[in-house]
Amino acid sequence: METVLKLRKDIKEKTNEEGVMQLYNEATEDYQLWSKDLNMHFGYYIPFKTNPFKRDTMLNEMNNQLFSMLEIKNKKAHIIDLGCGIGGTMRYGVNKFPDLSITGCTLSTFQEKEGNKFINNKRAIIKNRDYRNTQFSENKFDGAMAIESFCHSGCSKETLEEAYRILNPNSKLIIADAFCKTEEGKMNFLSKKVHKGLSKCWSLERLGNIKRVKKELEEVGFKEVVIKNIWYRVAPSVLHVPFMICGFILKKWFKNEPLKKESIDNMKGSYYALLTSLCLQDFGYYIVSAKK
Ligand SMILES: C[S@@+](CC[C@H](N)C(=O)[O-])C[C@H]1O[C@@H](n2cnc3c(N)ncnc32)[C@H](O)[C@@H]1O
Repeated sequence: METVLKLRKDIKEKTNEEGVMQLYNEATEDYQLWSKDLNMHFGYYIPFKTNPFKRDTMLNEMNNQLFSMLEIKNKKAHIIDLGCGIGGTMRYGVNKFPDLSITGCTLSTFQEKEGNKFINNKRAIIKNRDYRNTQFSENKFDGAMAIESFCHSGCSKETLEEAYRILNPNSKLIIADAFCKTEEGKMNFLSKKVHKGLSKCWSLERLGNIKRVKKELEEVGFKEVVIKNIWYRVAPSVLHVPFMICGFILKKWFKNEPLKKESIDNMKGSYYALLTSLCLQDFGYYIVSAKK
């Protein structure tokens, strides 16, 4: 009986991939309020360069940091954005670097369709592909980036292997994302609650452990693995979350529009992200760079 009940529960529960697809098919539009440039990530604050009250300056600085690390300036290059959202980072890249082409992949068909319209540039295309099995040929790309997307797969070894396979030798993979520092079982009460909330609302049940990811990057074959915890750069944009959520609810209320379940989950997820700042012993936000 117990087995039957468990089976029923397993069948009813969404897989991580279904959760990710549903979240981004239904809640991507909500990000218009987060970023007019449709960046679906947190920002990178640099005193006197980015304005802490203007979110998009920080969000675009995150894009800038990753492109600088890829070292593609003044080069004819073709890179891939693994988990590209609706193309905010890709649009930033092709507008800034005239010799750059970017392919993006996403699990969401909505993001593929709307993102290609939004970017509207011959040098950029979004495809509905899984970053763990992109179907691209070996050694195709001169760089790969993943902003807040590998968190969904836990930055798994198969994800890292696939990134390694499609990269040209000597080109780089740059990841900007949240990671755990501690195994879930060893976290304190608040961290466990936050982890559970992030899993439920943002499908982050596989959130990667930074020590394991470093080890696996090296096992896969990457060299020069450099890891930097940049939570203090990201924190000023995370502090925008409560204001953005109030604005979102008020907008829906004035327009007399109902709140979708995915939008509610997305907002709750943002609150849990805010709470991670109280659990810095167990979570961090890192930029990881690795060379093939
Ligand atoms: C928070 S959004 C970040 C989007 C984008 N990198 C940005 O910063 O604007 C996460 C993205 O990861 C993508 N994603 C998650 N798991 C994926 C997978 N297995 N394969 C491809 N894309 C995936 C989602 O479809 C979504 O586009």
